[in-house]
Amino acid sequence: MQVPLLDLKIQYKVIKTEIQKALDEVLESQMFILGPKVADLESSIAEYSRTKYAVGVSSGTDALLAALIALDIKPGDEVITTPFTFFSTAGTISRLCARPVFVDIDPVTFNLDPAVLDSAVTRKTRAVIPVHLFGQCADMDPVLEIARRRKIRVVEDAAQSIGAEYKGRRAGSMGDMGIFSFFPSKNLGGFGDGGMVVTNDGALAEKIKMLRNHGMHPKYYHKFVGGNFRLDALQAAVLNVKLKYLDGWSQGRRTNAAYYNRKFVQSGLVDRGLVRTPKAVHEKSGDKNHHIYNQYTLRVKDRDKLQAFLRENQIGSEIYYPVPLHLQECFMDLGYKEGDFPVSEEAARTVLSLPIYPELTDAQKDYVVEKMVEFYG
Ligand SMILES: Cc1ncc(COP(=O)(O)O)c(C=O)c1O
Repeated sequence: MQVPLLDLKIQYKVIKTEIQKALDEVLESQMFILGPKVADLESSIAEYSRTKYAVGVSSGTDALLAALIALDIKPGDEVITTPFTFFSTAGTISRLCARPVFVDIDPVTFNLDPAVLDSAVTRKTRAVIPVHLFGQCADMDPVLEIARRRKIRVVEDAAQSIGAEYKGRRAGSMGDMGIFSFFPSKNLGGFGDGGMVVTNDGALAEKIKMLRNHGMHPKYYHKFVGGNFRLDALQAAVLNVKLKYLDGWSQGRRTNAAYYNRKFVQSGLVDRGLVRTPKAVHEKSGDKNHHIYNQYTLRVKDRDKLQAFLRENQIGSEIYYPVPLHLQECFMDLGYKEGDFPVSEEAARTVLSLPIYPELTDAQKDYVVEKMVEFYG
């Protein structure tokens, strides 16, 4: 049996005809940059995320960059985020010569711990980027309360969490802006790179629209220095088709997660303290949080040996992320050291993400659990 970390070919077989038709429309129109397909996607994503505006851009990274430029983040400004995220969250702060200021994460959700946020705010702090990691929202109420009180802006990094909910509110809709990534491995993935900024602020939406096109409006008149952050029509055509399936796919991931959780408990690995399954906080209490499981991330004993054993048995897995950002070589000049963010560092040593894509069969999931039981003996 083989269980790849992700198999997009199964999904493609189901939607192939629709996708090819949508791509053909773009090819026939020969309009490849922005245009009606991008505008359609923008209105659908705004509706889906329950925001007033959505602006399509070239990647999740460029969405973050455009959002920070739109907030006028300047050299010397501080922007707070967590060190346990994909690189771009902090990389984009650095690219504007602003300073990423890290705060540690909650050990259960892997998301920014609001209890340590307030004390990280200084006179130079301009914004906070809570990351909704792996498909689950950060604890936004305290983040929003602190941001309001300390007069800092909030950009939600929802790259991994389109459709996730926090107390009934959609990821991306709670801060000043939210960003999504359409990298192929995301729950809503394109056939290449793509991203989106969502917001309820009309002025910010207009500014992002200009920034994605070199700050230009009208043609050849440049009000700001932006970049080429445009989303192309072929990606939008693919994403318009896929968006209709997104909730079904995310539900499939949730079902798989529940299945794994049950099997890991039955296997005894949880009780023996060898495996800790991911927890969707508040779901049971009726708070209506909604985890979309872009990743199904365990905490495990002997992580690296386990991963090698799974690989030998044709089971894909991945470590998101092995090095927290405060210990990355490129951020050494920020002056952080090992021990500064113990929860993030512990997560980096113990996390392992398993295959969770919606088309996984029960037999495949059983095989994964069986092999883990075999490993731990
Ligand atoms: C948390 C997070 N932020 C930002 C990004 C950047 O998105 P992209 O790869 O589309 O540039 C990603 C992508 O993996 C991500 O996971």
